Amino acid sequence: MIRGAVYWTSQRPMAIVSFGRVSQPMAQNEQKDARRITTHVLQEMKAGGQPIAMLTAYDFSLAGLVDSAGVDVILVGDSASNVMAGHETTLPITLDQMIYHASSVVRAVQRALVVVDLPFGTYQGNTKGALNSAIRIMKESGAHAVKLEGGREVLGSVERILSAGIPVMGHLGLTPQSIYKFGTYVVRAREEAEAQRLREDAVLLEKAGCFAIVLEKIPASLAAEVAQSVHVPVIGIGAGGGVDGQVLVLHDMLGINQTFNPRFLRRYADLHKVITEAVSAYLRDVRSRDFPSDDEQY
Ligand code: KIV
Repeated sequence: MIRGAVYWTSQRPMAIVSFGRVSQPMAQNEQKDARRITTHVLQEMKAGGQPIAMLTAYDFSLAGLVDSAGVDVILVGDSASNVMAGHETTLPITLDQMIYHASSVVRAVQRALVVVDLPFGTYQGNTKGALNSAIRIMKESGAHAVKLEGGREVLGSVERILSAGIPVMGHLGLTPQSIYKFGTYVVRAREEAEAQRLREDAVLLEKAGCFAIVLEKIPASLAAEVAQSVHVPVIGIGAGGGVDGQVLVLHDMLGINQTFNPRFLRRYADLHKVITEAVSAYLRDVRSRDFPSDDEQY
């Protein structure tokens, strides 16, 4: 595993400098895939009409798989609160816990941009606190950017974090940290007043300097309109196909989690079945003394 800066000349990797070691340049046919994703690359992808693929990851093993498969952005989402820790909402997860997940992910990733959610209570209503939280994430995990939920009400925090040179991704629409205000996880911004507020918030986030915006669970037509009205990439989850990229929670799309079945979710595997069958086979083999065999011992 090589971590460190990749230096490019006309998109050709000259060398990877990794903790004092200089590794060999990558092979010619690996060059395009090996290109490190930056906020600038995402901007180019939007401009070139190239869809951006983002997935969550929270640990070293799965982050490594997701990265080597070629995902563009890995989100260390506060959905870790649900899928890793079993909480009902995203609210309980702490900054220390997010940093733990993020640093595990960063250790595995060579190509993707790693974005980390600022957890609930670490950025709202206190711009200095927001900056300190973002700095801790960047310094202690080695991540590349932070994400936070909300529009005009968190603009001060967004600006202060950006002033320290930390890239910020916005998040509008269904913002799970506000679930007790919404009272439900239904589609947001169906009403014109909320839709108009969302349009304005997207422009405010772009003007403040956010490098991308996530739109969660809003009508596809509104999401497409927003994606066309801003110059930064708009990544959707349950926001239709007219945006610049898509994000899903890894455990949902792999079918590990079977209880979460929103309409927008496409399952690409049934790991619940695969894992249950594998564990059952192991139990059977241990209990029948079939495992270990002569070949599986010293
Ligand atoms: O926490 C998360 O996983 C997210 C995505 C659903 C966008 O914010």
